[in-house]
Amino acid sequence: MPETQPYTPPAGHHFLTPLYDVGVRLSTREKLWRTALVDLIAPRDSDLLLDIGAGTGSLATLLARKNPATRYLGVDPDASAIAIARRKACAAHIFAEFVQAHFSAEAAATWPAPSVATLCLVLHQVPLSEKLRLLEEIHMVLQPAGRLYIADYSEQRSWLMRKLFRATIQKLDGYTDTQPNADGVLTPLMLQAGFTDICELAQFNTITGSISILSGTKRSASDEIGNSGSK
Ligand SMILES: C[S@@+](CC[C@H](N)C(=O)[O-])C[C@H]1O[C@@H](n2cnc3c(N)ncnc32)[C@H](O)[C@@H]1O
Repeated sequence: MPETQPYTPPAGHHFLTPLYDVGVRLSTREKLWRTALVDLIAPRDSDLLLDIGAGTGSLATLLARKNPATRYLGVDPDASAIAIARRKACAAHIFAEFVQAHFSAEAAATWPAPSVATLCLVLHQVPLSEKLRLLEEIHMVLQPAGRLYIADYSEQRSWLMRKLFRATIQKLDGYTDTQPNADGVLTPLMLQAGFTDICELAQFNTITGSISILSGTKRSASDEIGNSGSK
């Protein structure tokens, strides 16, 4: 299905997509943060993980190595990225599903409800209104007690990290969409979207700025009953 809604491709420009994987590997200490992310997710046999903005599918391979029984569904509007992701999964002999789609709760209504959702390096690239929309619609589609993990450029706390972020990622992806992340907007947006137990689990300093792993939970059905009962 051709993708008609506007979006930013993986490396900012379509012609750079084939170079995306090598760029991320060289510029983000990728092995460190992706491995930490998968360890923190601790995927269970019964989990269904929805990877929104899956790009070239780098998370799928690591996830399958950690727990081959966990079901993985990657969603991305970019046809070239999805083609690379499918080739990588095939080469690694892992089973992973990829759908070419612009993520929305409406599109996700036709997929099984995920127990875990991930957003890796997606939110820093999209406008502020889209950051909130993605978080709100992920919250809608997650199973009760479902978990969201974000790995992305978030608050840039030191002078050096702000300078490096400005000189690299903000040059590539522009200032308007990226600056709210650097100013620490992700936690308040997660709260606004309805997530609870929000925490920053790790932060990695890289030559392109610091990358944080954040998590949040959707209330379970029993929490909802407890809350309405105590009102
Ligand atoms: C920087 S790449 C990150 C790819 C991958 N998650 C990773 O960790 O390498 C951001 C991806 O988000 C995708 N994207 C942008 N807007 C999206 C949306 N609304 N729904 C799903 N994916 C989206 C882009 O096509 C791109 O592949």
